[in-house]
Amino acid sequence: MNSSLAGSIYSLNSVAMGDKKADLILNNCNLLSVYTREVIPKTQIAITGDRIAYVGPDASHAMGPKTRIIDVKNRFVSPGFADPHLHIDQFVLPSEFAKQALLCGVTSLFSDPIDVVSVGGGRGFREFLRLGEGLPIRIFQVVPGGLPVDAKFSNGNTMSLSETKSAIRHPHVLGLGEVFSWTKVTLREPKTMRFISSMLECDCIINGHTAGASDRKLNAYVSSGVLSCHEPVNFDQVLERLRLGMWIMIREGSIRRDLKEIIPRVLSSRTCLDRLMFCSDGLDPLDISKFGHIDHCIRESIKLGLEPIDAIIMASKNNFDYYNMGRDLGGIAPGKLADILIFKDLRSFRPAHVFVGGRLVISDGQLVTPIRKRTIPSWIKNTVKLGRFSKNDFEVKSKKSGVVANTILLLTEIITKAGSAELPAKDGLVSASMDSDVWKVAAFDRTHGTKRHSIGFLENFGAEVGAFASSWSFHENDLIVIGSNDSDMAVAANHVVKNQGGLVVVKSGKIVSSLPLQFAGIVSTDPFEKVSSNFANINSSIVDSGCRFPRPHLIPLFLPFLALPSVRILSGGIVDVKRRRYIEPIY
Ligand SMILES: [Fe+2]
Repeated sequence: MNSSLAGSIYSLNSVAMGDKKADLILNNCNLLSVYTREVIPKTQIAITGDRIAYVGPDASHAMGPKTRIIDVKNRFVSPGFADPHLHIDQFVLPSEFAKQALLCGVTSLFSDPIDVVSVGGGRGFREFLRLGEGLPIRIFQVVPGGLPVDAKFSNGNTMSLSETKSAIRHPHVLGLGEVFSWTKVTLREPKTMRFISSMLECDCIINGHTAGASDRKLNAYVSSGVLSCHEPVNFDQVLERLRLGMWIMIREGSIRRDLKEIIPRVLSSRTCLDRLMFCSDGLDPLDISKFGHIDHCIRESIKLGLEPIDAIIMASKNNFDYYNMGRDLGGIAPGKLADILIFKDLRSFRPAHVFVGGRLVISDGQLVTPIRKRTIPSWIKNTVKLGRFSKNDFEVKSKKSGVVANTILLLTEIITKAGSAELPAKDGLVSASMDSDVWKVAAFDRTHGTKRHSIGFLENFGAEVGAFASSWSFHENDLIVIGSNDSDMAVAANHVVKNQGGLVVVKSGKIVSSLPLQFAGIVSTDPFEKVSSNFANINSSIVDSGCRFPRPHLIPLFLPFLALPSVRILSGGIVDVKRRRYIEPIY
């Protein structure tokens, strides 16, 4: 737990004046000042407890016999980086993600745990909040602001207003996460407006999601108190939002990478940088290992022409200004919490040393602090409430000798459109057709223990596997099973049930690759390295089997995602998103 500034002022003041001795002094710092855009050489930083008491040319007055002195040897020193919007309820537990983020210099994470809530409701949120506590990194949470994605079709759990009000009493819960169905705001949907006004009354932050909104609709959204967006994919969208007083989190993560499109135009237009940040929106284990995290955004932006000091400001100060936390975090100055990075040079931006609250957590690029493993209650490891499957569970019956299927046609792993395909029916059963690249796809409610399910057809998947199943999907978390034959689909579904969550690929009755996700069926309880390797195997086993897309794990993830057009499948049926109606799988 942090000290409060209010409770620290006597101590900080005394150390600054030399009346009390510091716990730690960093000497010979080349300080990257986020307040003046300077590099200030030969700076000394005195720290007491978890806060900075003094920053200046000479801290010797704060030096005592017990003060630890570290000679930084003229290396560059900056405040810790922040990721202002990401979903860390993915792949690995917060304790495992924390290690990777800290190695990249990220000391603050602003988490929006949509899928934990979709599976576990308010109880899941509280459990996830608990898992983020006591780690050597700051994890702030927002209550997911976009659930249900569409109440007419959505199956996931949500948090009520009273649960949300109770959640924001926790000091690390800051408000409402991305309100991604912005039409609920522009149509002044009563429940959404009630949530937003309640959050505003409590002085909470509300994160936005304005893909596709402009002019009147964007004004209506902003006037409702939603002041950030991480969805702009080009400079014009950034500028329109900045002009309306919004804050922009430029996304560079596993779902999208927008820096290349946005940064050059920001620079050529000499746009004010004060309201620009970097965010990941979520990183898979391979991407964070290969590219990094916010440090990668800094490197890439500098390659695109951004001044290093400006990249540092966007990675640190601006985030805390947005979240109204600038008094405590975001810069190296008296009174601030001592989240400090030491770099060898201004090229790699991979910190050699990282302090969080004055405590050394990374030294010479290695984690030097223990990360306590927390016990996970059994209820959240038992969320795949499904019985044993047989091949009969995947049958599509028809009395005709041939049918036309309303297919979900994959254009990318994420984007779909409505298609159709003729399929043969034999002995009253309609089969998938690998020759025509038409696969069965099934969605089962695995959260509530109902038997609700739907079966349809998927086009353009391409991978010659028997089945591919996943218990993790945005933000419904139905069990999705894609397959060429009913027997392998049953094997895949049974494997996910046995593991109580995960992704699995099956060929000829055998498990080819498996990524267990035991926590809520969406996050693995395994170590990062094991998850990373399992994840790589899932994708390579599908790609090597002929899948048309390089990141096939995204297919079941997005198949039920109602915030995107055009056709989606949920346990309730196949949905035409624009017309907001169910579609029959065959006719
Ligand atoms: Fe997001």
